[in-house]
Amino acid sequence: MNRIAIAIDGPAGAGKSTISRLIAEKMGIEYIDTGAMYRAITLKLINKGVDISDIQKVKDIVNSTKVELVNGRVYLDEIDVTEEIRMPYVSAKVSDVAAIPCVRERLVHLQREMAKKTSVIMDGRDIGTNVLKDAEVKIYLTASVEERAKRRYIELKNKGIDVTFEEICNDIKNRDNIDTNREVNPLRKADDAVLVDTTGKSIQQVVDEIISIIKEGANL
Ligand code: DC
Repeated sequence: MNRIAIAIDGPAGAGKSTISRLIAEKMGIEYIDTGAMYRAITLKLINKGVDISDIQKVKDIVNSTKVELVNGRVYLDEIDVTEEIRMPYVSAKVSDVAAIPCVRERLVHLQREMAKKTSVIMDGRDIGTNVLKDAEVKIYLTASVEERAKRRYIELKNKGIDVTFEEICNDIKNRDNIDTNREVNPLRKADDAVLVDTTGKSIQQVVDEIISIIKEGANL
C-alpha cells in the first residue's frame, strides 16, 4: 500500500477518536489525535498558571514543550497525561488555547512532520482544510448536539467523573461556537470532504461506512 493520509474533522463528541482509532487498527496505520495535542498544551498552561492573554509567555512555553503520541498514550514533556487531559477543567479551556495563532502554528508543524513519515489517520478540526490539504480521503464527521453530549456524558460518568448532562451540553455548545468562529483555521467541512452523520448509528456502522469511503477515495 502506498503511503496515505486520511483526514477526519468534525465537532466535539462526533465520535472522531473512537472511529479513527478503530480504522487505524483495521488498516494498520498510525492514528494521530490532534485534539489531544491541544489539550496537552492547555494542561501545561493551566499547571503553570499562565494568563493566556500574555502571548509572548504562551509562545515561549509552546515552543519549549514536548508533546508526543505513542501507542495511544499522550506525553507532555515525557510525562503520561492521557487521562488528565480529558478532565472537564481542561475541556473548558482548550478551545480558547486552540484559538491562539502561535499555538496552532507550532502544533500544525508537528502534525505535518508526523504525517510525512508514515500513513496516518488524523483527526481534528482543521485537518482537511489546512493541516493535510492534500489528504487522499477527507471525512467530516458530525452528529446532533444532544447525541454528542449524551456520548460524552456516558464516557465521563463511566470514568467516575462527576458532571451533569447540562454541563456537558453547555461545554459542547460553547466549544462548537469558539471552534467554528475563531479567526485562524476554524472548524468547517472541506469542499472535498465526505459528510458522515453518526446520529443514531452504531460505531460498527460508521466504521464500515468510512472504510468503504476510504476504499473508494484512495483506490485501495
Ligand atoms: O477533539 P477534542 O475535543 O479533543 O479537541 C479539543 C479542542 O482542541 C477542541 O475544542 C478544538 C481544538 N482543536 C483544534 O482547534 N484543532 C484541531 N485540529 C484539534 C482540536
